[in-house]
Amino acid sequence: MATIETKNWTRVIRNATLATCVPGKPYGLIPRGAIALAGDRIAWVGKNRHLPDELPKRFTVTDARGALITPGLIDCHTHLVWAGSRHLEFEQSLMGASYEDIARAGGGIASTVTATRAASENDLLTLALARAGRLAAEGVTTIEIKSGYGLDRDNELKLLRVARKVGERLPLTVRTTLLAAHAVPPEFKDRADDYIKCVVEDILPAAAEEGLVDAVDAFCDNIGFTPAQVERVFARARELGLAVKLHAEQLSNQNGAALAAKFKALSADHLEHADKTGVEAMARAGTVAVLLPGAFCYLRETKLPPIELLRVHRVPIAIASDLNPGSAPIASLLLNLTLACTLFRLTPEEALLGVTRNAALALGLGEDRGTLEAGKRADLVIWNAGHPAELASQYGMVRPVAIVRGGAS
Ligand code: NIG
Ligand code: FE
Repeated sequence: MATIETKNWTRVIRNATLATCVPGKPYGLIPRGAIALAGDRIAWVGKNRHLPDELPKRFTVTDARGALITPGLIDCHTHLVWAGSRHLEFEQSLMGASYEDIARAGGGIASTVTATRAASENDLLTLALARAGRLAAEGVTTIEIKSGYGLDRDNELKLLRVARKVGERLPLTVRTTLLAAHAVPPEFKDRADDYIKCVVEDILPAAAEEGLVDAVDAFCDNIGFTPAQVERVFARARELGLAVKLHAEQLSNQNGAALAAKFKALSADHLEHADKTGVEAMARAGTVAVLLPGAFCYLRETKLPPIELLRVHRVPIAIASDLNPGSAPIASLLLNLTLACTLFRLTPEEALLGVTRNAALALGLGEDRGTLEAGKRADLVIWNAGHPAELASQYGMVRPVAIVRGGAS
C-alpha cells in the first residue's frame, strides 16, 4: 500500500463506525474506521489498520470507541424566518378546515406575511436563531433558508438578510433561496400576473444585486402560482445565472415536476401528487426529489409521494424539515428521518442519504459536502449510537456526542 501522506493532518478520529454515505455499499459503511482532517477538509478516510503505525504527536487523535460518525446533516428546505404563530389555524384544521380552506379564507401564508412584515430585522433574527439553533444542536451543519413571508422588495430582502445573519451567528452554512413567488400579497389581490411582474422586474434583481440569493423557488399549486407564472420567474432567474427549485405537486398535480426539470432545477419538493411523466423528466434532468414528511404528517395528507417511481428512475431522494409556521412547525430533521421511514417507507439508509449526500445535491453542494470523502468539507457528527439505522429507527434518544464543523468542534 502507498504511504499515506500525513504532513497536513490536523486531527485524526479512530475506532469509529463510519457511515461515509459514499456509493458502493450500504451507508458507505466502514466498521473500525478512521478519518483524518486537514484544516477544514477531510484528508483521508479508511480502516484503522491502514493508518500509519506512528502518528505524529502534533495533532489530536481521538478514540471514538466504536461510535457512529456520519457527515454533518443537511436540511435542504426550510422557511425558518417568520414572525407570529398559526396555532388558531391549527385548531381550525383539527375541526375540519383544510390547508386550502384556511388559505382561501385569508389565513395561511397571508397571516404569517402580516406578522412578518410588522417584525423588525432584529426580532426576526432572534426568532430564526432559536429555530436554526434547534437544528444545529441535532447535528445539522448546513441549512437552506427561504424567504417568502415578505412578498415585497423590502420585506423579502429583510428575510434574506436575516437568513444570511443566521449563518454568521451560528456554526452553520446557510444557503438562501428567494421564494417571493410563494403567495399573492394583499396589495396585488386578484392580480397575480402583476405581482409576478413585480417579482421578475423588481424583487428578484434587487435581491440578486445585493448578493442575497443562492437559488430561486416558487409555489406552483392551485393556491399558489400557475406553471406559466412560475416559468416567468424561472426564466428571469436563469438569466441572472441563479439556480432554481420548486414547490411542486404538494396539493395537486400541476406538472410542476416536469416544469422544474425543464429548467434543470436543483430540486422539486413535496411531490405527493407527482406522476410518471414528472418523475421521468426529473430523472433526465438530474433534479433531486425533496420529500417533506413532517408537512405530510402535520397536514394529515393521505396521498403518498411516488416513492417506487423515484427509486425505479433513480431520482436522488432528499429529506428535509420544511420548518415553517403553517404546514410543518417541527424544528427537527431527525424526527423527519423517522417519519420518512414510517410514513413513506423509506429505508433508514435512504433516509440518511436523504439528509446527507442527496441533500447536498439539492443545494448544488454535492462536490463539497454530504459524504465523508477526502477533499470534502470536514463537517461530521459523532453520535451516541453504533449503527446508522439507529438514527431513523427511534426519536429523541440518539443525539450528537460531538459535532465537527469545518474541522472545528
Ligand atoms: O412548504 N406550500 C407552501 N409553502 C410551505 C408552507 C408555508 C406556510 O404554510 O406558511 C410548505 O409547505
Ligand atoms: Fe416549503
